[in-house]
Amino acid sequence: MGIESTEFSYKQFAELGFIQQANSHLVDLVGLRPGQKVVDLGCGTGAVTRLIMEKLEGARNSLVIGIDMSAAALREAMSQLNNARNVAIHFVQSRVEHLPEIVKEQVDSVFFCNGIHLVPDKPRLLTQISTALKSGGIFAFNTTFFQGAPPPETEQFYRKWMFKALRILRRRHGIMPQKGKVEARRQLTSEQYEDLLCQHGFTIGRKSLFPALFTLQGYMAISEYEEFIQGAMPGVPLEKGRDALQEGVRQAFQDLNLETVPRNWLTVVAVRK
Ligand SMILES: C[S@@+](CC[C@H](N)C(=O)[O-])C[C@H]1O[C@@H](n2cnc3c(N)ncnc32)[C@H](O)[C@@H]1O
Repeated sequence: MGIESTEFSYKQFAELGFIQQANSHLVDLVGLRPGQKVVDLGCGTGAVTRLIMEKLEGARNSLVIGIDMSAAALREAMSQLNNARNVAIHFVQSRVEHLPEIVKEQVDSVFFCNGIHLVPDKPRLLTQISTALKSGGIFAFNTTFFQGAPPPETEQFYRKWMFKALRILRRRHGIMPQKGKVEARRQLTSEQYEDLLCQHGFTIGRKSLFPALFTLQGYMAISEYEEFIQGAMPGVPLEKGRDALQEGVRQAFQDLNLETVPRNWLTVVAVRK
């Protein structure tokens, strides 16, 4: 299973109402205006690119550059956003770490939604983002994979979910995940993100925790997504990991009689000095 596949994509999750709210909240905070030039890092299937595009409509020189390493995600984004009016949208298949080769002229804003936790070398990335931005330009990101995303009262739910998922994996499929953490699991605190930004020439414009209520449908959808499966169950084939995670979360919701589970989205707007 590789990045060319349309299965195991983030699309289903990105389209859920409460995820769109978390992303719209961030895009609204930035105050984009028609005519601006914006980079959308890790744009995936284009859910946030669309929100950015809507803010830029109305001036001919508006530009969005969407960068993602997944060809399948970019194909989906292109098919979703082929009706842009007055906004040029360029999609580039690349790792975000190649930003300096892609963006030669400084831009007004850089977004990174739901993906910064996946980049191993964050100091290097922040240097690159700072170089790509005009003075006074905005770097905005959000993530629900940071230390502090699950409120303490949800610990029992996550423990139950993972316990059940691992049991299903062992009983149904006769396997267990490999030991060792992948990058998405080495999570920073919100203070560590703030320190990193300050060390790389940014001031914090806004930093908040956006409270989202995850439904069972939300957990089922995130359990479809390749990078989540690999993070939760390193080394497990995607079909088997998805099956165990989905059945595990169904059982955990049922056992604990849950309707929703609260989870925080770290939401940051930083200004380049
Ligand atoms: C969780 S999705 C988020 C997509 C989109 N930003 C959104 O919020 O709907 C993360 C995306 O980041 C991409 N990605 C992860 N690491 C990357 C990297 N180092 N370079 C480029 N893309 C990356 C993945 O391919 C995936 O499409």
